[in-house]
Amino acid sequence: MRKKIVAGNWKMNTGIKDGVALVSDINKELKNVTLPSDVEVIIAPPFTHLTFFEQVTDRNKINIAAQNCATESEGAFTGEISAKMLKSAGCSYIIVGHSERRAYYNETSDILVKKTEQVLKNNMTPIFCCGEKLEDRKSENHFNIVKNQISEGLFHLSDDDFTRIVIAYEPVWAIGTGVTASKEQAQEMHAFIRDIVFRKYGKDISDNLTILYGGSVKPANAQDIFSMPDVDGGLIGGAALKVSFVDIVKAICQ
Ligand code: 13P
Repeated sequence: MRKKIVAGNWKMNTGIKDGVALVSDINKELKNVTLPSDVEVIIAPPFTHLTFFEQVTDRNKINIAAQNCATESEGAFTGEISAKMLKSAGCSYIIVGHSERRAYYNETSDILVKKTEQVLKNNMTPIFCCGEKLEDRKSENHFNIVKNQISEGLFHLSDDDFTRIVIAYEPVWAIGTGVTASKEQAQEMHAFIRDIVFRKYGKDISDNLTILYGGSVKPANAQDIFSMPDVDGGLIGGAALKVSFVDIVKAICQ
């Protein structure tokens, strides 16, 4: 069954006190929402918040994710946090290869292969991000860029492992800019992604792959984007930092 997901990526925002207050309010608001069995809600707060979130959220309603993890399992890697630690802090998903990490922390495909392996090894689901920059789209190179990101980062995986992947398409030009891809642009790229996965892994796996759209999704435009056949939900940044995030969850439930 292809899952639908609304995931909030809080990035480097909120302190522990206000973060816990916000997730408690979201949790309370979600009590009034009946989630269909194919819908999941995920929140990815900063690392510092994770154990608190595990205590205050209803895990039947909110899955907890991390925004990143180390390439290694354990040892002398000062400042790093392993997938195993994140599992023990209550995470079931980890975001891998967000464009901000690719751009500001030089995360290459080789690094993302190692991170994905760590996430899978610890029985969590990677949310693997891809997406082109504005200049790539202007030069009509966007399909190539996304294809390379996905094939370099994921196509070494076995069929079994690939069924555990979620892909998030986040065009860099739409992140935090207020400019959302049109629903047609999102659908076109999602269908393209599903097609390259179909060619590599076949129909069953590509049909069941969850592909999220990210980039300036908010309550006002969520339903429109989610109405497209290959858009299975969203990865939400700024609009995930408000209780009205729940309105985006409601949009996927319709
Ligand atoms: P915005 O929703 O703020 O554009 O951010 C999207 C994003 O980067 C989620 O990972």
